[in-house]
Amino acid sequence: MTDSPHVFVACDLPESVQALFVERFQARCNDKGRTLTAPELLEGVKGKRALVITATDCLSADIVAQLPDTLEVVCTYSIGMEHMDIDALKARGIAVLATPDVLSESCADTAFLLMLGAARRVLESSALLRSGEWTGWTPRQLLGVDVWGRRLGILGMGRIGRAIAQRARGFGMEVHYHNRNRLAEALEAGAIYHDSLPELAAQSDFFCIACPSSPATRGLVNTAIISRLPPQAVVCNIARGDIIDDAALVEALESGAIAAAGLDVFAGEPDIHPAYRRLPNVFGLPHIGSATESTRLAMGRLLCDGLQAYFSGAQPSNRVA
Ligand code: DGY
Repeated sequence: MTDSPHVFVACDLPESVQALFVERFQARCNDKGRTLTAPELLEGVKGKRALVITATDCLSADIVAQLPDTLEVVCTYSIGMEHMDIDALKARGIAVLATPDVLSESCADTAFLLMLGAARRVLESSALLRSGEWTGWTPRQLLGVDVWGRRLGILGMGRIGRAIAQRARGFGMEVHYHNRNRLAEALEAGAIYHDSLPELAAQSDFFCIACPSSPATRGLVNTAIISRLPPQAVVCNIARGDIIDDAALVEALESGAIAAAGLDVFAGEPDIHPAYRRLPNVFGLPHIGSATESTRLAMGRLLCDGLQAYFSGAQPSNRVA
């Protein structure tokens, strides 16, 4: 299917990625430069066979019920899938394609950026340099915590978790993890499995969240888990903000129970917990996990290839439902 405009790209994709959808499918694209409202999305998708969205476009059961009968496939320009009611889509026989694998390495880079930035007090250091008030090196200045040689606990040992673990070995870290299921030995690559999350927390000088957001993981990192972390621990989140109980984390950061947090994702983005904007021991980034030119292009190519396969009756490699 490349002969007629059957694809609606509802999300505001990078230009190079939008161009792919136009070239390959003569897609109609969001030209508003912002996230569409639900009525705009429903208007745009009328009569289409494929809809392209991203994590900020919500396909709740209510919206799914209003999608046109012509719609066969939803492509999400994301690895996260919490913005779609997958059961409702399945019940309507609508296939779902996503962007697994191609963003894992960039996200793992960002996880290390979070760990290093939080542990080595990068925001405070950079602010001091830019302020013009730096009076020179002193032995007491801006002491952080080491990353190298420490224990890293990873919650969620999927593709991104494993890419983080691979980097951690280069830093001489001891890798621990918790996952729904223990991995095969080859995939574990020496990482130590904990079937209990509190036990993982107790072993985690660095505690990195890399699992999907789901009813089972929302609010999972709460006071009970945070209170098990060793003193001077650093919490990082590369997954989704709602996995953390913000009040519990803020309390631990304010009281000094943990050293710092490195956060790329937040509950309620962009209206984040206000303490994350003011606490000096929070190294926060605006959800840039996969934000490199080449990764974002690779995500687009994967969706286009999957869509092409779907339309030609083959099984797309990136079909997730
Ligand atoms: C993803 O791919 O899920 C990113 O976090 C963007 O939402």
